[in-house]
Amino acid sequence: MAVVESLLYFPITGTLLGALLLLLVLYRLSSKYKSQKEGKEPLGPKPLPLLGNLLTLDLTRLFDSLCELSKTYGNIFQVFLGPKKVVVLVGHKTVKEALVNYADEFGERDITPGFRMLNDGHGILFSNGENWKEMRRFALSNLRDFGMGKRGSEEKIIEEIQYLKGEFDKFEEKPFDTTQSVNYAVSNIISSIVYGSRFEYTDPRFTEMVDRANENVRVSGSASMMLHNIFPWLGLFLNSKRIIERNWLKNRAQIVKLIVGLQETLNPHDRRGFVDSFLIRKQSEEQLGKREYFHQENLLMTVGNLFVAGTDTTGTTLRWGLMLMAKYPHIQDRVQEEIDRVIGGRQPVVEDRKKLPYTDAVIHETQRLANIVPMNLPHMTSCDVTFNGYFIEKGTTVVPLLTSVLKDPSEWEKPNSFYPEHFLDEKGQFIKRDAFMPFSHRLTLLSL
Ligand code: HEM
Repeated sequence: MAVVESLLYFPITGTLLGALLLLLVLYRLSSKYKSQKEGKEPLGPKPLPLLGNLLTLDLTRLFDSLCELSKTYGNIFQVFLGPKKVVVLVGHKTVKEALVNYADEFGERDITPGFRMLNDGHGILFSNGENWKEMRRFALSNLRDFGMGKRGSEEKIIEEIQYLKGEFDKFEEKPFDTTQSVNYAVSNIISSIVYGSRFEYTDPRFTEMVDRANENVRVSGSASMMLHNIFPWLGLFLNSKRIIERNWLKNRAQIVKLIVGLQETLNPHDRRGFVDSFLIRKQSEEQLGKREYFHQENLLMTVGNLFVAGTDTTGTTLRWGLMLMAKYPHIQDRVQEEIDRVIGGRQPVVEDRKKLPYTDAVIHETQRLANIVPMNLPHMTSCDVTFNGYFIEKGTTVVPLLTSVLKDPSEWEKPNSFYPEHFLDEKGQFIKRDAFMPFSHRLTLLSL
């Protein structure tokens, strides 16, 4: 970072400064003309040339800085991250309206340089248009076939929990860091759905792959990667970028090996998991001479996306759950009492959830307070749009700020406390809350 910082202060020559000023004046004139023509742009703090509002934002907790700015500029405002304009949507009403009623307009993914280098527009997480729709539709229907979100995954989860418990038992009730073992357990459940089998926690091919993916999630959210996304040329000097590239290349090679193994033993009448389904579809498309979407690159990226998007998110949420139960023993006691009363000593199943309103409320409240994707993933406008009276140009980066929804003071009685009653009615029955949006809403386009 020292190199980066010194570069930011590098003396700029008079000619370069003159050219920059000219560009700035032209930019100002063109944006003024546009806003007069199309409607007013969202308000926001005055940007400096090139640096935009960077000097007044805390890049390590950008979501907090953005919440602070909304107190001055309202629920739809703009900030400049360097030269890049970003429109921020704040609060449940605004975020929901944008992602549901204006799903087409706000539904594209902004593929930042840090992610473009990994995905190149393939897979689901960082792709757009027809490729995104096709991959997303295929993943949703096939993951469901292999039990995702349904009772089919229950057996896999119950099996994995026994292994995880075995890992915890090794510490003989002494304090320990649960991060790795929880991540291995979550990743194994995804593995059973994606590859059709789990791995041993002692298998270095597996553990190293999970550790590298999690390091990538952590480094992707760092301030230096944020700077790289704003000033892509900084990538040349950033260690974080090298770490992410190296980790992904190693994981990619490992995923290729696993896919080749599955390809060699593929039986179209006995699909073991998501990869088999993809390979079978790929074969049938190739026989028809179609190679547009069902190719190796989309398979690799989609598999990589499912592990990256599913492991760290679920693992972190589970660890928040453990931490909150330790912090609030009286709430833990009430959960335990409900489980003992309703289930007794047998293995819990998903079906029991309906009869466990307090436990269900605690799980939802954990996800709300944990707020693990506070900035959401960046969206982008797919066309010019006038939203709540503000004109937002096609191709503008949009941040639907999830933290402002999950902690919206007009929606939650105690936004910053752990308060399971947020999800309970006066009779102690579980209630769904509209402002519970930890997963955001990029789903809606798929129902078309
Ligand atoms: C507690 C768990 C999880 C949380 C909080 C979470 C949250 C999110 C959020 C906020 C997004 C961005 C949505 C948007 O752009 O509007 C997202 C996207 C995504 N998540 Fe999750 N997620 C979780 C678990 C999972 C799991 C288990 C999987 C799959 C194994 C998964 C797969 C995906 C995929 C594929 C996307 C990209 C969707 C798209 O761009 O169309 N997530 N998730």
